[in-house]
Amino acid sequence: MNYACKTPNHHSTMKTHHFHFKTRRHNYPQVVSANHRVMGNDYDHVMMITSKSNVNPSVLRLHKSPSPPADSAKERVVSADETKYPSTGKFGRFGGKFVPETLISCLEQLEVVFHQVLKDPEFKEELSTALKDYVGRETPLYCAERLTAHYKAQNMGRGPDIYIKREDLAHYGAHKMNNALAQAMIAKRMGLTAVVAATGAGQHGVATAAACAKLGLSCTIFMSTADMEKQPSNVDLMTLLGAKVEPTAGNFKDASSESIRVWAGKLGEVYYLAGAAVGPHPCPTMVREFQSVIGRETRRQAAEKWGGTPDAVVACVGSGSNALGIFHEFVGDPTVRLIGVEAAGFGLNSGKHAATLAAGEVGVYHGAMSYLLQDEEGNIICPHSIGVGLEYPGVAPELSFLKESGQMEFYSATDKEAVDAYIRVAKLEGIIPALEASHAFAYLEKLCPTLPDDAKIVVSCSGRGDKDATTVSKYLGL
Ligand SMILES: Cc1ncc(COP(=O)(O)O)c(C=O)c1O
Repeated sequence: MNYACKTPNHHSTMKTHHFHFKTRRHNYPQVVSANHRVMGNDYDHVMMITSKSNVNPSVLRLHKSPSPPADSAKERVVSADETKYPSTGKFGRFGGKFVPETLISCLEQLEVVFHQVLKDPEFKEELSTALKDYVGRETPLYCAERLTAHYKAQNMGRGPDIYIKREDLAHYGAHKMNNALAQAMIAKRMGLTAVVAATGAGQHGVATAAACAKLGLSCTIFMSTADMEKQPSNVDLMTLLGAKVEPTAGNFKDASSESIRVWAGKLGEVYYLAGAAVGPHPCPTMVREFQSVIGRETRRQAAEKWGGTPDAVVACVGSGSNALGIFHEFVGDPTVRLIGVEAAGFGLNSGKHAATLAAGEVGVYHGAMSYLLQDEEGNIICPHSIGVGLEYPGVAPELSFLKESGQMEFYSATDKEAVDAYIRVAKLEGIIPALEASHAFAYLEKLCPTLPDDAKIVVSCSGRGDKDATTVSKYLGL
């Protein structure tokens, strides 16, 4: 039987099928509270702090920004622009700028430039040309016929059509390039000649190294020795692209801390190029903005291919940059389910996972409030996943807000489920997804049997899995 994905001729644009999804009454907050900052000179302490044990009011004074003018309402009703780019960096109670005062002016300057470039036709033209000619956008929305047939065959011929958003086909094989290139262009505009960044799986490191080479910027990438061992091909690529790779102890969170520390010591000289949708405002908003090209393309391509929107969009969640990139376009549309899949590692009860939304508690880390993996004392729990890029103990503040406001669903997949999905997609579609993205594919096992014929699922294939071949072989004992 041929389960080819249907064209507009075969498919109604109306969503007539019914399946369960959470009701989403609100999208982004219409009211924002004042931003919070942390005062203090002990930079290391402040940036790494978590809410439970470490937030000692005698050390940290959380205080509000200056009061609004007397004639403004107590709670400010925000404009559409403010909803998308909240000037406080707050999504509900999440986000903000929990940093020492020394960093505030630098972050504020970055925010000003960010807003300038968003409105600057020259920058927009330069970026869209580079996205097209350098990154290779738009990436295809590919109809996965054999994957679709696989799930239909298990359910008496019924089930959804599966489409794959091919971020693995972007330059250097991951979504990370969208943001790295845009931010490197901002660094250049700001007159900075040196960039620092941190990488876990190495994809953001490679993307940043390439963008810096293209723009003539010097580049230093912090990466843990553990991750360097797991992803040696990416270390080679970064070096070939002219970046200096600085090994750190620990894992991605420690490499992030180190890169932020170096940046904080050289403000005004060095640009910190965030690849994860975490950190102090405006970093998460910038990363989401530059990744949201994924969702905009998906909407357009879905309209072309079946004359509608997806019924469900599925993405893996590490920090949340690819998930927000594809979700953002559809936030507030209750007909599109937004499904994030985190890393359950050895299982959610094992203590060895990276399922922050599922198992974390709210705290402050790396300069923002969000869900965090932390113990009773507020110490960070070291995350684990076979997908190195998912090993982060926090998550994007914006995703924490989407979780708390019931606008997204979140599930998790174990290492084994991710490896099974890696192999399944390779064998059925001839596409080897990154182990990170394999977590999103793994969730299809549970999702597909619950969906009716004609439902359309889009899976974000955030990256290609060549880098993971050795890890998978070792895992399987080959
Ligand atoms: C290919 C790929 N997908 C997903 C991720 C997870 O990051 P995020 O949740 O920010 O998309 C990474 C991180 O390195 C990655 O390399």
